[in-house]
This record gives sequence, structure tokens and C-alpha cells, in this order.
Amino acid sequence: MNKKTIKDVDVAGKRVLVRVDFNTPQDDSGAITDDRRIVAALPTLRYLLEQGAAVIVMSHLGRPKGEVAPKYSLTPIAARLKELIGGNVVLTSAIDGDPLGIEEAKAATAPGKVVVLENTRYTDAEEANDSTLSAKLAELGDVYVNDAFGAAHRAHASTAGVAEVMKSQGKPAVAGFLLQKEIDFLGNAIRNPERPFVAILGGAKIKDKIPVIEKLLPNVDSLLIGGGMAYTFYKAAGHEIGKSLLDSDSLEFCKSLLCDDKIVLPTDCVVAPDFDNNAPRTTVKTTAIPTDQEGLDIGPDTIAAFSEIIKSAKTVVWNGPMGVFEMSNFAAGTNGIAEAMAEATKKGATTIVGGGDSAAAVEQLGYADQMSHISTGGGASLEFLEGKPLPGVIALDDK
Ligand code: 3PG
Repeated sequence: MNKKTIKDVDVAGKRVLVRVDFNTPQDDSGAITDDRRIVAALPTLRYLLEQGAAVIVMSHLGRPKGEVAPKYSLTPIAARLKELIGGNVVLTSAIDGDPLGIEEAKAATAPGKVVVLENTRYTDAEEANDSTLSAKLAELGDVYVNDAFGAAHRAHASTAGVAEVMKSQGKPAVAGFLLQKEIDFLGNAIRNPERPFVAILGGAKIKDKIPVIEKLLPNVDSLLIGGGMAYTFYKAAGHEIGKSLLDSDSLEFCKSLLCDDKIVLPTDCVVAPDFDNNAPRTTVKTTAIPTDQEGLDIGPDTIAAFSEIIKSAKTVVWNGPMGVFEMSNFAAGTNGIAEAMAEATKKGATTIVGGGDSAAAVEQLGYADQMSHISTGGGASLEFLEGKPLPGVIALDDK
């Protein structure tokens, strides 16, 4: 990447302010159900501690809309970080007038210690990219490190804002190892892919994927489309789609792509009368979906056809599940794609899973260690693939 990283600056004995994305899913009791984002930030945090830096960590969690709400406290996250890092980790307390605990952090900062600020979204000033908050955050560090790829598409006070303030004060603003890895993997895949280059897109909403389809299509050798978004293509081709997902606003867009021979659509799908794991399933041709049924997964012929293409690729980028993988009876399509990608990895291909649902699926289905790279960014990886500049990256020092 063309931005400076922590390897380009001296962090020994310095106060290093690190933005991470610890926006991790939790269950109703507040227990973390997937700690991948915390684990992914460990190389940067460990490196800084090894260098004798005093580390101040900040992250958002959920969308508390500027309110201090215990449900969104970083308490479980700081506890998990402490377990993983096996060291001195403390969390600040949100108090009146200082919801992130910035003053407490100033006093608590020490070499070899990690001070975690409370949720950056405990104040509206974060998402407003408020310059007063950015300036207060900048006081905490001698060096700013952004390792929050998942939040790099947000121009917030703790991402772009603080980096700009620190730079204006002559302090370095650089990328952490995770951010660097994400940008290198995704960037190389789209700029300089080894061919055949195959992209797989799925998920429910086609509208969200239109910019990425437009960006990837001229560059890929094949674009495989599955998941809920595929049904709008059949509708556009004049077929019955029953109760399947339809995005009427995207019909014209889909119609315009029907003759593009790089686009590969499913030929069969698994349908059911209800959105229920126990609903009776049938496999039908995608040209013959019964009126009272809903498509919930790609079918076996499609899995076989997609798998062939994936296994002969040299670069594969996947974003969006092929079906409702959260329900075991409709997970076969997503599972099949993950298996084909794992095969492709074994054969030497670079396989990249965009964040969000597809990353969760790969993890849940047990293929996480068989991919070249699983992005920690959902929206961020999509925006990157769309070719949009990421404000959190742009704000960092150029090499
Ligand atoms: C994510 O989970 O994609 C990031 O943490 C960004 O979260 P946001 O969509 O609430 O900004």
C-alpha cells in the first residue's frame, strides 16, 4: 500500500493511539459470539507493546446513536482483549461530559499497558466527525495508528478526523498491520489479478451490489451471482419467481446484464413455501419457480457449475452468501462455494472472502483457515471493491 505503516515510524516508548474495529457480534447476554475482529488486531497491538509503546485503543460498538447505553459498553470486548493479549488492559468509564473517558485515559496511559476508551459512538461527535472531539483524541497520542479496516469507509472523528489533526501537529498517522493486509489483498486482487479472475456475489439486496457489479464486471473473467439477489435477474428475464426476493427498482439494471456472457446465474434453486428451516424443500429449475414458493438457496446443478469455475480460477473474490445459510436446510449452496474456494486455495489460487455475512458463513461452516484472506470489513470491503476511496485510509501519511 502507498501509506506509511507502523514499521515506518518509531513507536518505542511513545503513546500510540490505535483505532481498531471491535464492533463484534454479541448474544443477548452480551457475550461475544465472534471475536475475529479482536484477534485480527492482535499483531499490531502486540508489536506496539513489544516496542514499549503505551497503547490507547478506541473502537465503536453497534449504533448507540450518541447515547451512553450499557448494552453498547466495550466491557466484554476489553475483557476478551485482556484474555487474548495476556497483559495489562483497562477500560475507561463513561462519565458525564466525557463519555469516552478521555481524561481517565490520559492519566492511565503507561508503557506496556493497553487503555481502551469506551465506545466512540457514546457521543454524536464521533459520527459527525467533530473537530473538537478529534482534537481531544489527538491529545492522547504521539502517533496515530488506524487498524480499523472495517470502519475505514466512515469519515468519523476517530478515523479520518483525528488523523488529520495529528498530521497538522506534525505527528505520524499510519496504518496498522491489519489495515495494510486488507488493502494489499483486496487491492492486488482488483488491480493485478492472476487470471482467471472470478468474482462471486450473493446476499439479499441487489441495489447494494450494483456499484460493485459495475466496477468488477469489466475486470473479471466470470461473475457468479447467487443468493436472494439472483431472483430479480429471472424476473427481468420474464420468469416467474413466486415469493422470492424481488428488487423492482433494479429490474432495468438486471435486464441490461442478461446478455453479458461473463455473468453466470444459477440454473436451479431450492424453494420452500415459507421462510422456515423446517418448511418442505424442493429443488426446481430457476425458470420454473412455483408461484407459492420462495427461493432460499442455489440448487445442486448450480453448486456443481459454480464450483467448476471457482476451482479453475487463480483469483477468487466472494461477497454475499448463496442462500439462507443461517438455516441449516438452506446452507448447502454457501457451503458448496466455501468448499470450492478451499479447493482453489489448495491449488494455489488467491481466495478472498469479503467481510460481513460471507465471512460469518465461512467461519460457521468451518472453512476459515482454508481461505487466503477473510476480510474483517463488511461495508468497507464492498466500498473498496467498488473503487471508492476510504476516508480512514486517505487520511494517513503517504509513503
Ligand atoms: C461494520 O461492522 O461493518 C463496521 O464496524 C462499521 O459499522 P457501521 O456500519 O455501524 O458503521
